[in-house]
Amino acid sequence: MNQVNSNQASAANGQGKEIKRVHIFDTTLRDGEQAPGASLHPEQKIVIARQLAQLGVDVIEPGFPISSPGDFMAVQRISQEVTGVEICGFARAVKEDIDSAVRATEAAERRRLHMFLSSSNIHLDFQLRKSREQVIQIARSMVAYAKQFVDRIEFSPMDATRTGDEFLFEMIEAVIQEGATIINIPDTVGYALPEEYGAMFTRVMNNVRGGKGVEYSAHCHNDLGLAVANSLAAIQAGVTQVEVTVNGVGERAGNCSLEELVMAIETRKDAMGAVTGIQTPYIYEVSQKVSRAMSFPIAFNKPIVGRNAFQHEAGIHQDGLLKNRNTYEIMDPDRLGVPRNMIILGKHSGRHAIKHRVSQFGVNPTEEQMEALYIKFKELADLQKVVQDHQLMELIGHTVNTVLE
Ligand code: KIV
Ligand code: ZN
Repeated sequence: MNQVNSNQASAANGQGKEIKRVHIFDTTLRDGEQAPGASLHPEQKIVIARQLAQLGVDVIEPGFPISSPGDFMAVQRISQEVTGVEICGFARAVKEDIDSAVRATEAAERRRLHMFLSSSNIHLDFQLRKSREQVIQIARSMVAYAKQFVDRIEFSPMDATRTGDEFLFEMIEAVIQEGATIINIPDTVGYALPEEYGAMFTRVMNNVRGGKGVEYSAHCHNDLGLAVANSLAAIQAGVTQVEVTVNGVGERAGNCSLEELVMAIETRKDAMGAVTGIQTPYIYEVSQKVSRAMSFPIAFNKPIVGRNAFQHEAGIHQDGLLKNRNTYEIMDPDRLGVPRNMIILGKHSGRHAIKHRVSQFGVNPTEEQMEALYIKFKELADLQKVVQDHQLMELIGHTVNTVLE
């Protein structure tokens, strides 16, 4: 694989095709923490932020400093203590929020300020109760205000995917003129379809004046289960930053999942023409840590980090895997730090898998013994979901006449 360091936008691969470096902006500790019941203590945030830095994310958004003294403290301590990663202060387009985010991130090695303001009619009419002219004026003045303190300003037009092109372009142009250098276009309510979301970026990139040199970013919610697909479409349309959360935690159905997005890019890098800086062997550990800290269980069938993601029960699959792992696996779980790639024994398991597990216990039954064991195994497996190792050992004791320790 071609190595592309974080400062290079892209490099050519062996076939002369451009490989784009996609920046991973992690918002587990801000947007992710907005998941009902997922809130964290500052100390927990600090531990997770260190792990995110080790994982290789490019940016950490550790919280919303104005929202509570605890969050302010968490952002401040992370800015002081976590190095090797850019720290992002989050703020509404309001002076007090900006002041608070600027103060909280003061000690960061590298920092940016992320400001958001709604752009859709429904938000302007019912939430902000402001006209378009007023909103543009606020966006301009608050970006200009923040720019006095922080060089790297990221701006998000909230609910962008339900905003008409004309106003969206106008707002983006206005904030770029005032000094915003990163434009994040969120699908706040998880409404977009992949093709639409990608096409929206293409239109923005082609039509917004003064956008040269600006970094475009995707931020997707998962209400229709499309957050990862939409983020991939945005990358294909040219965005170079994607905002994600570990385990996809976040408001409602959550955000784009870090591990799913990264592994889609990694597993299909030729099709995607992209790489990230994520150190995949830390993925499983970080996922477990976040799940425990937030008391947020991971679904068994969750891609990449779910309990069943690398387990195989069907006999035909188990047989194939024992011959060559690539028959039914597209990723190597060892590269994700998943502790072991286990074959589950249950009613769908075949002779090959059972024999393999038996041989792992150091037992080599004759054909006759194996057949007797197989029949007993199936009788037991019909009564329960999974046959545990100790139960298999017991069956071996009965049929092969070897009692295992
Ligand atoms: O979903 C959203 O719109 C956000 C922004 C404020 C970036 O989280
Ligand atoms: Zn969000």
